[in-house]
Amino acid sequence: MTARGVTWTSALGFVLAMAGSAIGMGNFWRFSYVLGRHGGGAFLLVYLGACLCIGLPVLACEFAIGRRGGCNAVEAMPRVAGDARGLIRVLALLAFAGALLLLCKGFFLLAALLALLALAYWRHGWTAFGLLMSVLTPLAIMAFYSVVGGWIISYLLLAAKGQLAVSDAAATQALMETVLANKGAGPSGLVISSLAYFALSVLVIVLGVNKGIERCSKIFIPLVFLLLLAVIVRCLALPGALEGLKFLFVPDFSKLDNEAFLAAIGQAFFTISAGAGIGLAYGSYLRKDTSILGTTATIILMDTLASLLAGLAIFPVVFACGLSPAEGPTLVFSVLPLAFSTLPFPAVWSTIFFLALLLAALTSSMSLLEPATQALSEKLGIARTKALALVVPVPAALLVLTALSPLDYARVPWLGDFVSRCLKFPADSLFTLLDTLACSWLMPLSGLVILLFVSFTWGRESFVEELRRHHVKSDSRLPGIVAFLVRYVSPALVALAFLHGLGVL
Ligand code: PHE
Repeated sequence: MTARGVTWTSALGFVLAMAGSAIGMGNFWRFSYVLGRHGGGAFLLVYLGACLCIGLPVLACEFAIGRRGGCNAVEAMPRVAGDARGLIRVLALLAFAGALLLLCKGFFLLAALLALLALAYWRHGWTAFGLLMSVLTPLAIMAFYSVVGGWIISYLLLAAKGQLAVSDAAATQALMETVLANKGAGPSGLVISSLAYFALSVLVIVLGVNKGIERCSKIFIPLVFLLLLAVIVRCLALPGALEGLKFLFVPDFSKLDNEAFLAAIGQAFFTISAGAGIGLAYGSYLRKDTSILGTTATIILMDTLASLLAGLAIFPVVFACGLSPAEGPTLVFSVLPLAFSTLPFPAVWSTIFFLALLLAALTSSMSLLEPATQALSEKLGIARTKALALVVPVPAALLVLTALSPLDYARVPWLGDFVSRCLKFPADSLFTLLDTLACSWLMPLSGLVILLFVSFTWGRESFVEELRRHHVKSDSRLPGIVAFLVRYVSPALVALAFLHGLGVL
């Protein structure tokens, strides 16, 4: 039991709940489009390396801090840090220097935001960092995640009505234009389906930590795996499917561009839900007798398996049907209708699949709302449902704007104007902006800070002690190895990827 008396009912419950957070649309929708964009096999290798050398240490750090803190995700780091403020002060100074640099380059609004952040770090220390990482980042993710959820709901309805069966690439492209880009119908279509998805997520979280999250995960994660296997078996038999396998598994390093490394790290963080405070929040409900390293490894293994299965289901169809793997965020939605159309009862298969995908996505969304809800409810001493009611307007408003700008700014030109003139952020839609901001910047940067926090603020000894707690073999060298990764290897790799992505290296 934790001080608050809420814990996962078992280690398995924890693993499944965290796997429920990890396995979601990131494994299907995001994994396939990012991998397709950055060249296939070579990217897959970098991504797997990032999961192991960066994702695993960061997630283990989050669980360890979360369990030691025993409180909400915003206050966990300040509580564990005690009076140590050295590192956060350095971060404040770096943020301030960044703000000056941006100012000189004419990015006024971004400079002001960064200066504000610097001030917040200086004055409020780790609490300010906790707020950015565990509240703002997940809520920003929630906005574009709900739009993908809206796409899934639309596809699910079409599938159930038997209208998803398409025979060629042109037909699936047309479907994408009307449903995903929301071009044909009135502006409200995607807004309504995204809001419906968001409302569903809120409903499940209202059911509470153990009941809602654990129960859903236990049922739906296995279902997603089973359905994927069925689709793979069928799709691998398609003529031309072999090209897809080659794309996925034969690395061609000439295809790795500058941004690929950062994109791979971003995808690793996104898919295992690291660097967004989820590990801190869930870790605080972790029982003392659960092995952190064992569960972290299991979660990452399950998640990687899901991504690989998704890749195996998607890329053979992409090549067999002559689609472009670099299509972008809509890739999986162009592919799946085609994939299902090759099966005997497409309506049945696709309905079950999109339903399972929807549920897998919901367990991730619940986790995205958890840190903010947990923090507010503990801080203000109010019930979780009340806290949730206070949280939801923020992502809801942002998601309406995102749903109006899914692939371009055509429906909201003033927003496009604002983004390009004031923010000067190179993104062709609000959707891409939030996706890039969260996955290529906020999550990897927060991950880097967590790694540094553990080594230089909390201290290696306390971290290793937390990892050893009820570790099966107390003389195991594993905690020491992970602490080494945390201190030297992982931060260096993240920093290198940033420098490479910015074109400095
Ligand atoms: N990991 C989830 C997915 O793959 C998304 C997510 C990211 C959830 C960050 C929580 C935090 O779909």
